[in-house]
Formats: sequence, C-alpha cells, structure tokens
Amino acid sequence: MTDPRTVYLSDYRPYSHLVDQVDLTVRLAPRATRVDARLHLRPNPAARGRHVLRLDGEDLRLVSVRLDGTLLDLTPDDTGLTVPADLLPEAPFVLETTVEISPETNTALEGLYMSKGMYCTQCEAEGFRKITFYPDRPDVMAPFKVRIESDLPVLLSNGNPVASGPGWAEWHDPWPKPAYLFALVAGDLVAHRDSFTTRSGHAVDLAVWVRAADIDRCAYAMDSLIRSMKWDEQTYGREYDLDVFNIVAVDDFNMGAMENKGLNIFNSKLVLASPETATDDDYARIEAVIAHEYFHNWTGNRITCRDWFQLCLKEGLTVFRDQQFSGDMRSHAVKRIEDVLTLRARQFREDQGPLAHPVRPESFVEINNFYTATVYEKGAEIIGMLKRLVGDDGYARALDLYFDRHDGHAATIEDWLKVFEDATGRDLTQFKRWYSEAGTPRVTVSEAWNPGPQGGTYTLTLTQVNPPTPGQPDKGAKVIPVAVGLLNPNGDEVVPTTVLELTKGSQSFRFEGLAARPIPSILRGFSAPVVLERAVSAQERAFLLAHDTDPFNRWEAGRSLARDMLVAMVAKGAGVSPAWAEALPQLVLDDSLDPAFRALALRLPAEDDIAQTLHAAGTVPDPDAIRAARRAAATALAQRLAPHLPGLIAGLTDSGPFTADARAAGRRALKTAALQLLARVDGGAAAEAAYAAANNMTEEVGALAALLDIGKGAAELARFETRWSGNALVMDKWFALQVALAAPDQAAAVTRRLTERPDFDWKNPNRFRAVIGALSGNHAGFHHAGGDGYRTVADWLLKLDPLNPQTAARMSTAFETWRRYDAGRQALAQAELRRILAAPGLSRDLSEMAGRMLAG
Ligand code: BES
Ligand code: ZN
Repeated sequence: MTDPRTVYLSDYRPYSHLVDQVDLTVRLAPRATRVDARLHLRPNPAARGRHVLRLDGEDLRLVSVRLDGTLLDLTPDDTGLTVPADLLPEAPFVLETTVEISPETNTALEGLYMSKGMYCTQCEAEGFRKITFYPDRPDVMAPFKVRIESDLPVLLSNGNPVASGPGWAEWHDPWPKPAYLFALVAGDLVAHRDSFTTRSGHAVDLAVWVRAADIDRCAYAMDSLIRSMKWDEQTYGREYDLDVFNIVAVDDFNMGAMENKGLNIFNSKLVLASPETATDDDYARIEAVIAHEYFHNWTGNRITCRDWFQLCLKEGLTVFRDQQFSGDMRSHAVKRIEDVLTLRARQFREDQGPLAHPVRPESFVEINNFYTATVYEKGAEIIGMLKRLVGDDGYARALDLYFDRHDGHAATIEDWLKVFEDATGRDLTQFKRWYSEAGTPRVTVSEAWNPGPQGGTYTLTLTQVNPPTPGQPDKGAKVIPVAVGLLNPNGDEVVPTTVLELTKGSQSFRFEGLAARPIPSILRGFSAPVVLERAVSAQERAFLLAHDTDPFNRWEAGRSLARDMLVAMVAKGAGVSPAWAEALPQLVLDDSLDPAFRALALRLPAEDDIAQTLHAAGTVPDPDAIRAARRAAATALAQRLAPHLPGLIAGLTDSGPFTADARAAGRRALKTAALQLLARVDGGAAAEAAYAAANNMTEEVGALAALLDIGKGAAELARFETRWSGNALVMDKWFALQVALAAPDQAAAVTRRLTERPDFDWKNPNRFRAVIGALSGNHAGFHHAGGDGYRTVADWLLKLDPLNPQTAARMSTAFETWRRYDAGRQALAQAELRRILAAPGLSRDLSEMAGRMLAG
C-alpha cells in the first residue's frame, strides 16, 4: 500500500525557472502579517520546453498576484499556486505576490511563528511555503533582500544589515541560497557581543540574542562559536563570508538548532548555560551544536543539497565535522565512545526495526520524518569510513576539490563520491552501497594459528552478513574497513593498527612471522558501523580491558564483558560474572586513566541496549528481567567497590571555582557514577550530603538521580522545585528525572500526575519531550505489561498531533521496537499504533510513521 503523497528520488526534474533575486517585505502583526514577495524569474534553460510556473504555498491568504505589473486573477489550491504557461514570458519577468499569514496561531512551529512575544521562523525542510508562494526546494537558490516592519526593537534576517530606522530594518544576503535557509526574528532582545577576524583579515560582528533575563548565560555559546570559526579555518580552510553572524535563542523550537544563513536559530536549551543551571552534558552539547550549525555555513549553505533525498550530504558530513571538532576540543577517545553509544542506541535500533531505511532514501511521504539517526549518525560514519579508506591526505584533497567544484551549487551524493574518486583515483562503486542499502552488517570472525620455524602465521577470516530490511530483502557485500591490532600474550602490541578491507562475503587475512599466538583487537576505533559477532571468553575480554592500546577497544572489552554477563543473567538466570566483577574495579580505580574514560567504563549497557542484543540473538526480551539483572549487577559492583568509593569520591571533589572544561567534567562524571553506586550500599547517605553540598547543576542532578534510583529523594525533589520553579530549562530536568527513574509499575502514574500540573506546558516541545520522552525512555516503564505506558504515550501523541505534527511524529519512534517483545506486549502496542492510525484528521507526519511501524 503506497501513500499517494509519496515523493520519489527517481522523479527529480530541474525546476522550470531560475530565481535571480528575491525581495521580501514582511509587515509583522500577530494574526495578520503581510508578506510582499517580488521574485525575479526567468525560464531555466536546463528545463527544456514551455512550463507552467508552480509555486508552493500552504495556509496563505492570497491578496494579489502581479506579473510584470499586471494583476492576475488566480486562485491557489491547497498546496500552491500555478501560473499557466500561456501567461508566462519566455524572457525574464517579475512576479509579485502579497499574502497574509497568522504567526500567533501557528502552533506547528514551522514557517513564521511566535514564541513568548517574539517572532521567529523555521523553514527547513518545507516551512518557507507557509510564509509566501515560492519554489520551496533546495536546488532553487537566490540572493535575498528583506525588509521587516515592526515596532519590536530588534529585527533580524539573513545576510548583512543594510539600513534601519524606527519600526523597520533591511537586510541583504548576497549569497544565493535555498528558501529553507531563510530566517527572520523580531523581538525585545539583548545581545551578548563579540567579534572575530577571519584569517584573511575580515572582521565579523558576532551576537548571541536572548531575552534580558538570560544575558548572563551566553558566554559559553559565544566562546564555542569563536572556537568553531577558528577550527574550520585551521582544519578545513573555510572562512566565514558575511559581516555579521547572529545566533538567537528561542524557547519554543521543534529541533535543536537551525543553520539559517548568518542567522542561526537555536532552542534556548542549546545556548543558555551557567554552572548553576547547566550540566556538563549540556555544556558539551552546546559546544557541539553551535559548531554543527556554524559548520553548515560551508557544508549545507554554500554547498547545499539538490533535493531532500541528499540530506545526508549536508547532515552526515556536518555531524562528522562536529564530532571531529568535539574530539579536538576534548578527548578523541571519550568522544568516540560517546558517539558509538549514541549510534548503537539510536541508529542500530532504527536499523533493526520497521523504520529502517537507507542513508539516502529513495522515497518519502513527509521529509521531516527523515531527519533520522540513520541519515545523521550513519551518514557521519560513512564519511569516517571514507576517510579511513583514502587516508587523511586523500580526504583533505577530496574535500578541497568538493568546496572548489561545488561552491554555490546544490549537489548530490554522486557529486560527493566523485570528488573522492577524482582526488584519490579510488573506485567507489561498491562503497556506494552504504548509501543505498539499509541495515547493519554483521561481521563474524574466525581465527587460525599455524606455528612455524620462522614464526607462526595467524589468519583472520572475516565474514559479512547483510540482513534484510523493509523493502530490501537482498543486499550486496559492503566495503568494510576493519581496523585490527595484535597483542602478544604478555600484553605487548606486536602488530599495530592495520586497516583490513573486507569487500567480499568472506575473506582471510594473514599475519606472518609471529612468535606466539596473538590476541586480536578487532574493529579498533569502531572503524565501521557494523555488529561484530565473535564469541570471546571472559578471560580474553578481561585481557583486552587491561592491555589494549586502542582506547575504544579497551572500553569495548569491558562493555562486552558486561553485555555477555547481562545477557546470561536474563536468558539463563546466570549470576554476576566474576571476570567482570574483578576486572572492572581495577580499571575504575586506576588513577593513571582519564576519569571520563573510567566513568564511561562504569556505565552499564542501557536496558534498551540489552533488549536489542537479546532480540538480535533471537531471544524475546523481558523488560522486567532486564531491569532486575542490570540492577543486580550494579549492586554487586557497588558492594565490591564499596570500601573504595568514599575515597574515590573525596579525591574527585574539587574545591576551586567551577570550570566547564573536559578535565573537570570528566572528574565530575566519575564522581557522580561513584555516588550512584554508593547509594546502592549506603542507603543514599552520601548522595544526600552531595546534594546539599552541590554548587553546580551536574552534581545537583547527579545526586538527585542517585537518590531517585533507590526510591528516595522526595525532600530533594521538593527543594529542587522551590529553587528552580522560575527556570523552565532547569525544571525540564526535574520533570524528566522523575519519570525516567520511576519504578516500572509507577512510570505511567508519575507521568499522569506530572502532566496534570499547571506548569506542564505541553505545547512547549522541550517540556513535552521532558515528560513524554522520559516515559518512552524508561524501558521497563514504557513496556510495562499492563500497557499503561503504551497508552499514556499514545494518548499524548494524539493530543499533540493536531497542534504540532512534527514533534508528535518524531516522538512516535518510541514504538519502533514493538515487535521485539512478547505476544501480550505486542498486542497492546499494536493496538495503540492502530488507534493512532485510525484517528480522524491525523497528520501526514504521524500517519506515515504509524503506518510504517505497523507494516514493517
Ligand atoms: N538542519 C538541522 C535542523 C533541522 C532538522 C531543521 C530537521 C529541520 C528539520 C540542523 O542542522 C541540525 O541538524 N540540528 C540538530 C542538531 C545537530 C547537532 C545534529 C538538531 O536540531 O537536533
Ligand atoms: Zn545539521
């Protein structure tokens, strides 16, 4: 059953016309904003023949249309306006439209809308059509002039400011851009200012715009921006290209942030930070997202996407770039581990279920549903593999060629791969399957050892299996770079990291002249987004945990030990593994290691990860058993470490002033992890003391979480609320923690109680996500056998959908794993998905998601 609204990659055609210039005048009024658009158009020589002029437009009240000054009598339909071919000159012409829109009643937060008295826009992917009639597609690029009229004191748009007076401002963006990068902001805002001089000497005025009350929480965002600008010059040779760069923080925002040319718009949670209100994770996220949106100026804006099927061209590459940046700013080892944790938790999960799709999909119904972990995170992994295959120099040459060849254009994945082929001479035909085929390859390993007089030969045989995904039953072999190192039994590295290229179904690789049978360290640095399937003894994992020179695989060894143990506990009723319980404390107490790394080693696989592993192995996961096993393991570890924990915590307690750098954050992360373990054996005494003593948000929520996790913390919750009730971003944490850490049979009830509070502002996406997202993320709570978790989430998705379909659809992925579970749970989840799909007036966004989840 295909939806008649499906869009196909294979249907791409160039647009009928070129837009040489756009002049917009926007007269702001809450319910009757007037938009005058003057489009300078001419027939596109690349689109042969005579064409109608089709402009996209939704929810617009058309006032007038003029062609070269002559009034036309045209009536738009639901999705746009057509000017018949016989009215159109075969030479350049000017089309003027006037429309009226109502930002105040725009609850979808797409197009022009209002948030707390301020006007702002979100146009990606297809929001510009809710502002004016326009060819709203990324391959139509034009310079924009914008005049804003409003009594509000700050009026911003893309590009450089040209002129302003009381009640108006004019902006000019000289760089041709697609409409999705258009932005406009008007409000009573103040600026945190700084400046940056590019390496060719161009001075850029920088500003972070916020409400007056937030002005003292902008410094970190500004600092991150300046470091991003410098980094992109040093690492990619990319300079900024306008006189100003503005960032605006908005409270009501569907996504994290948006890279509009010269005027980035951010969810305020990704701008505002102070030690008292932001956690270390918030700081790291702000740094990464500021960088990400800034880096889009070249990878996304100067070079954009031909169509939305090419989304990974900008998003995968820009995520890869922001990951490199965060690694350079902090620790590459820690960043790689965190990125792989996210990849497995979100992208592998997606790839395993009904929503699996290629990094470059071939069709979609609603493009907003394809801003996925696959497009972003797997898209970034593909670029990491390319870099590994062609080397750092090859990568640098390919990127230089990319910027050179495609600047100012709308490009495709074919263009992207071609620059690598041309710059390095490598044939990427087979590699391209990574873009077109969904699913996570599984790589199995077998070993052979032949001792000999000139040293022994060790043979590794790698085999890949590419599992079927919806619509793609059969797949070809992928090019998989497998980074391998070999260790001697005494722990010395005998073969340093070498990249093996697996290109066939099965292949053997030989290492000769070895004195002893080596212990292999495979998939170092997580060199490819695959599942490595290899039965390894606990002893060998413990050996790698102690000796591997590759920090990622060292962490992975501990992770695998824990995973194997938890799977055995759940599936076979096994007890806590002695190998794990002995090896882990040694690592955690090793002061020569980075505290951030030790904190990551302490983190047990999440309940959903364990369910994913069980499901992949053909076992039906029992959420209650998974939760019980995980908690039993944590308690066993806590008991073993108990004598050392108070000393560890004391040694990690810093008395000086707060700093947000990676070193200090790593110490706080390990301290918090230790505190959460200690709570399992001391009844929460240390966590209560830590809560009382906390002078930063990381330690405040860390201690509170430790208490809630053992069923305590009521007094602290009340104190937290009293202290922070005036700060919505901090209160989001308060809402989320209670639901995330509620007992499985309480999770839905806690959610219901919180949603009845007057401060549960469910139209605000951050607050909605804090509560409903936390319920979806509470594995045993969401999958509670009574079905109240499923029902509560479905109720809220249905309530949100008519107002904000985009956020409702995104959050519906809570249900993407429903087929993993037992028949009883499956029936309950399926009934909720069917109830959603049957709802009258359901949005295209949510109906596509519910339909795919039921079908796949
Ligand atoms: N271009 C996107 C924002 C966007 C996403 C607009 C979906 C419209 C629909 C932006 O560059 C982005 O990717 N933002 C991410 C954060 C980023 C660090 C991965 C986001 O908003 O979550
Ligand atoms: Zn992006």
